[in-house]
Amino acid sequence: MEALPPDSPAPSGRMLTLTCQRPAAGGTFVARHEGRVVFVRGAAPDETVIARLLDDPEEAKNARFWRAEAVEVLEPSPDRVPTVWPEAGTEGVGGADWAHIALPAQRRIGSEVLQELLTRAKVRSFPVEDAQVEPASDDEDGLAWRTRVRYAVDPSRRVGMRGWRSHDVRPVGHDPIAVREISQLDIPSWAAPEGTEAIDAIGPSDGPPAIVIVGRDLDQASIEIPARWDGADVSVQNASGLHPLRGDGLVRERVGDRVFEVSQTGFWQSHRLAPQLLTDVVDADLDVHDGDVVWDLYGGVGLFAARAAQAAGPGSEVVSVEGSARASALAATNLADLPGARAEHAECVAWVREAVAAGARPDRVVLDPPRAGAGQELMRLLASAVTSRIVYVSCEPSTLARDLAAIEEKGWRVTDLRAFDLYPHTHHIESVAILEPAP
Ligand SMILES: C[S@@+](CC[C@H](N)C(=O)[O-])C[C@H]1O[C@@H](n2cnc3c(N)ncnc32)[C@H](O)[C@@H]1O
Repeated sequence: MEALPPDSPAPSGRMLTLTCQRPAAGGTFVARHEGRVVFVRGAAPDETVIARLLDDPEEAKNARFWRAEAVEVLEPSPDRVPTVWPEAGTEGVGGADWAHIALPAQRRIGSEVLQELLTRAKVRSFPVEDAQVEPASDDEDGLAWRTRVRYAVDPSRRVGMRGWRSHDVRPVGHDPIAVREISQLDIPSWAAPEGTEAIDAIGPSDGPPAIVIVGRDLDQASIEIPARWDGADVSVQNASGLHPLRGDGLVRERVGDRVFEVSQTGFWQSHRLAPQLLTDVVDADLDVHDGDVVWDLYGGVGLFAARAAQAAGPGSEVVSVEGSARASALAATNLADLPGARAEHAECVAWVREAVAAGARPDRVVLDPPRAGAGQELMRLLASAVTSRIVYVSCEPSTLARDLAAIEEKGWRVTDLRAFDLYPHTHHIESVAILEPAP
């Protein structure tokens, strides 16, 4: 980090000396400056840093709180360690905002944030201190886990990554977070063709890795694939869609004895261990019985629906509901051999509203919404219709806490909540909550 005295003028903001205290949602740490709260990123608990103010100085004058980023550590936190990724963090690339914090401390801090969010949302039926972030088993160092990586390209065609919440493209060499199959492609040393906006790399658990070259006006016929990508599938995504140059535009993901087809541009859990871990947890939590009616909302390509259909047997009805037409079509393919399972392409809230109005009473529901969460209407509808159990999978604890509080108001309770470090070296966590009607 650069060393600047606190009163130094800086191009992007004023320098402040700050002592960071508790963690806040979003990966920052709370400090105070002349009574005002400052959210500091790139810091750690109980450390004093010189931080650059990120807000416009004029607008910041009347703001309730400020945002800043640490540029120099004066008194380090006991949790600070040499970063696992020197190119990430302040002035560097985003995607590993806690790479300078010891891995066990990351999980402790994640637990504190989760507990604080549950407390603030007034979740009352579950002892919040029991919400603790667990590592995925077999993930000792939190490295080489990310199976989906997005690279950015600057106007001079250099491949890098974006800075944290920034449009700047910053240079990147070795990414220790990406799975080896992606690192080996050495995408950052490629001179991207004119018009390339981004490059997506996918390291699936079955079959070859894939590269998607993204640019509205890219001409797929003009792309020269470097020899070192010989073992990878390659596609171009332009304004007219996805054009496979090598391969079929899909990747294959193995979970236990099943292989799922996933679009190269579609959603799949990003930690290499997440699909198996989450499927096992959801399966145990749903506790499906023969003949049950089960909904898998925000179902993607059918990951949880497949296991539920296997567990519930042929007399059951398992429906995967997914808003992306492509993912829903792939879910139909992935579920085709499972009697009683089917995929619906629909917006989840609208689909549930209609089903409940028509008298549907599912026994069990798993939902895995995007970061925005399920929202009040869906929680209310599920509370009124589900007869036995809901399992809520969440990648955003603030919206999870809000949605749990909403369903508690409808007479439901949280009977278990586990959290997993499925995004090591970042502040993100994955949570799985079991909900049941109060007795
Ligand atoms: C977090 S992913 C979960 C996917 C799946 N459960 C899995 O683990 O692979 C959320 C999914 O919800 C879908 N989605 C987002 N908003 C939706 C909506 N309003 N209605 C239906 N699906 C939606 C996305 O396309 C995405 O596939």
